[in-house]
Amino acid sequence: MSTGRIPFLDLAATTAALREDLDQVWAQVLTHARYIGGPEVEAFESEFARYCESRAAVGVANGTDALELVLAGLGVGAGDEVVVPTNTFVATAAAVCAVGARPRFVDVLPGTLQIDPDAARAAVGPRTAAIVAVHLFGQTADVPRLRAVTERHGLALIEDAAQAHGARFAGARAGSLGDAAAFSFYPGKNLGAFGDGGAVVTADAALADRVRRLANHGRAERDRHLHEVRGRNSRLDTLQAAVLGVRLGRLDADNARRRELVALYRLNLPDGVEPVAEHPSAEAVHHLAVVRIPDPAAATAALDGAGIGWGIHYPIPCHRQPAFAEFADGRLPVAEEAAPHILSLPMSPTLTPADVEQVCAVLERSLTAGRPRAGAEGRRW
Ligand SMILES: Cc1ncc(COP(=O)(O)O)c(C=O)c1O
Repeated sequence: MSTGRIPFLDLAATTAALREDLDQVWAQVLTHARYIGGPEVEAFESEFARYCESRAAVGVANGTDALELVLAGLGVGAGDEVVVPTNTFVATAAAVCAVGARPRFVDVLPGTLQIDPDAARAAVGPRTAAIVAVHLFGQTADVPRLRAVTERHGLALIEDAAQAHGARFAGARAGSLGDAAAFSFYPGKNLGAFGDGGAVVTADAALADRVRRLANHGRAERDRHLHEVRGRNSRLDTLQAAVLGVRLGRLDADNARRRELVALYRLNLPDGVEPVAEHPSAEAVHHLAVVRIPDPAAATAALDGAGIGWGIHYPIPCHRQPAFAEFADGRLPVAEEAAPHILSLPMSPTLTPADVEQVCAVLERSLTAGRPRAGAEGRRW
């Protein structure tokens, strides 16, 4: 069993094997020096669209911008409401506010902690323009049930796929499930850049064109000096696109490794530590390994003592954040009750089986009545 430090995510080790390929693409970019809009951007966009089994990808500056640009591209703005799960990173709601619309926070399902489709349906009103299906922790939301709601009411279905590169639901890839999807390439994501980055993925070519224009100062394609709409600057740098192109080649292998590690966690987690459930139709890519635990403080103290990294995603649901107080509309009990009991364990394709065993052993010691489970039956991440 390893006894060294176990980081929450080991970014340096994750990219070490790609060093040669990365050196080569960096050199290529330095040589042509087209740091904005270089050929690597277009190449990555078409590879990523293909990977997502969709039609178009537009590289942008980060995942928050990707969400905002999708909303703007769909014409969502002042006077509109957008249904958003409260259990998400605040960027989902911030993007809605950035276009002048109001987030309408809804609760999540008790097992998976993903957006509750019934709650989303109940939240639809005369001003609702869209629902954001956040694919949290690497597992997709139940999109077919959300799709039934959006189709019935003529709403847009937007995927926040920042944590779900490569995930599937009923066989279909994240990025191909909604009208458009927003991806983040923040370094710690399953597909991460060496800085900020993001993409909008959609099968709607006209929407992709609008997003591309909005993200590039509203510039017309036929004449770079003509600005037909008021846009902004939110582009994916050539260097980041080059890095992402290299890393995309390893994404499926890394995701498969994450699945193996989760299977090991499931086998070794002590009683009292329950993995967040996985929908039977979901094929998760385990961006995060989130468990529920009665007393996370005791567990985190033990993990700290053993030099093991951890995280909490997320300790405060969005509707309880001061920044979004004006949009809070009563209790959202499932998210509120889950928040004080969740803990994210180390998850990185570079973790070893011994690392996972060590994390589980430390957790077991931190529990008063911890006993390893006989088997993993019935425990789905
Ligand atoms: C669910 C979710 N949405 C949106 C974002 C925003 O992405 P970015 O940090 O690239 O702006 C993130 C990532 O941090 C995220 O996890």
